[in-house]
Amino acid sequence: MADTPVLKSGITLAVIAAICTALVASTYQLTHERIAANEQAWLEQSLQPALSGLFFDSGVSESRVTIPAPHALPGSEDAVIYRVYSGDTPVAALFVVSARDGYAGAIRLLIGVDIDGVVTGVHVLSHRETPGLGDRIESTKSDWVKQFDGRSLTDPQASGWKIRRDGGEFDQLTGASVTPRAIIKAIRETLGYFDANRAAVFAAPPDGQDETSE
Ligand SMILES: Cc1cc2nc3c(=O)[nH]c(=O)nc-3n(C[C@H](O)[C@H](O)[C@H](O)COP(=O)(O)O)c2cc1C
Repeated sequence: MADTPVLKSGITLAVIAAICTALVASTYQLTHERIAANEQAWLEQSLQPALSGLFFDSGVSESRVTIPAPHALPGSEDAVIYRVYSGDTPVAALFVVSARDGYAGAIRLLIGVDIDGVVTGVHVLSHRETPGLGDRIESTKSDWVKQFDGRSLTDPQASGWKIRRDGGEFDQLTGASVTPRAIIKAIRETLGYFDANRAAVFAAPPDGQDETSE
């Protein structure tokens, strides 16, 4: 037949395409679960700085709830809350919020708060503050963020939630007062939100699960 070579080439190409498709599909199947597990482990790891001193036995990342902006937490982007449990008992909430008024824009923060409203850790997730000035908020560069551990809405009282040079109880950063002011304000606002919304924070269904899908 005159078109036999064309037919042969067509069949060969179709077989190659089928083999490639099967290879891609099986590779995806094999790696998909591992990637998801790695992402989960990475997330759980990155939440650790906000969990110091807590006893909990829940996975944290699956309790995630996104609070769409606008909301009453600091920042104009969506906020995220991870709930932490021991058995069925809530023990803490981890907030991902933004301090709006950093020197160079928003500073993304992870703030851990235990069930009694006490700070369990603050970690700077991202920022654009100036190297050598505002960037000492990073825990790899200084212990500045550690000073909030153990503090709460009433410790200090409202007037103390400022840097020392403004009459408050918290250390500033030499030559960089704008950055600390922004972070202190965001932490205090987050504590205020938790105090006012504690029950709702733990009652909200996790992402991907609406109120009626139980
Ligand atoms: C180029 C440049 C970058 C600066 N970056 C920061 C910064 O990242 N964070 C900050 O708080 N202040 C920064 N400052 C200083 C602020 O303008 C302001 O002077 C300072 O925060 C006031 O702190 P002080 O009252 O302790 O001197 C920067 C200043 C300049 C000129």
